[in-house]
Amino acid sequence: MKLCKVKDYKDLSRKAANIIQAQVILKPDCVLGLATGSSPVGIYEILIERHQNGDLDFSEVSTINLDEYKGLRPDDRQSYRYFMNTKFFDHININKLRTFIPNGLEENSEKACRDYDKIIEDCGGVDLQLLGLGHNGHIGFNEPCGAFSCGTHCVDLSFSTINANKRFFDSETDVPRQAYTMGIRSIMLSKKIVVVVSGTDKAAILKKVLCGPITPQVPASVLQLHADVTMIADQAALSQI
Ligand code: GLP
Repeated sequence: MKLCKVKDYKDLSRKAANIIQAQVILKPDCVLGLATGSSPVGIYEILIERHQNGDLDFSEVSTINLDEYKGLRPDDRQSYRYFMNTKFFDHININKLRTFIPNGLEENSEKACRDYDKIIEDCGGVDLQLLGLGHNGHIGFNEPCGAFSCGTHCVDLSFSTINANKRFFDSETDVPRQAYTMGIRSIMLSKKIVVVVSGTDKAAILKKVLCGPITPQVPASVLQLHADVTMIADQAALSQI
């Protein structure tokens, strides 16, 4: 794993945006694996700016997002589809038909997950996967559990995740209790992975991810086994190492 130590969130966003920009330039029809949460927002802002300056063309790019809340409509302000449209896709020249996110409205979990795995397969896999890190070590919505997951699956969100994500909702009771997420195996099959971690609140879990044992109790620890991971972390996130 390559560790890229940066000063702060701004620096982190620029470094990650540079890697994504290079990927899109080198392979204009690449498949980007994208993430939600606060961590990638600065990256999306920079990529939008570079697109608007004429330096970045997304017309041939496809995207596959990690996860979606089960039960939320795409136009629900808390859905990850809404997040991706408003924070990124609406501002670049991407073909929205080639931006994929699990279907939160599909009540049949088995079908939703099977359909999403088929989409990933049809796209030929992910060239570059962008990841954030949950406070309990989750990636996507792969929560700590007894075994690493394989393909897309439906998860019961942990208390820690509901608690962390309630800031985006009117109240904690509004946070959906389940989500569809790409599995660990699918994430590990990405050719390249870029992880962005910022802030002191992530310092303890980042130490476990980088220095602890590889265990499904800390899902992101599995990244130690991937051949091409760039971990971009700011000083605050690295403060316990
Ligand atoms: C959510 C998302 C993850 C994200 C994580 C961290 O639960 N499902 O993909 O990485 O939160 O979010 P943040 O970047 O806001 O800390």
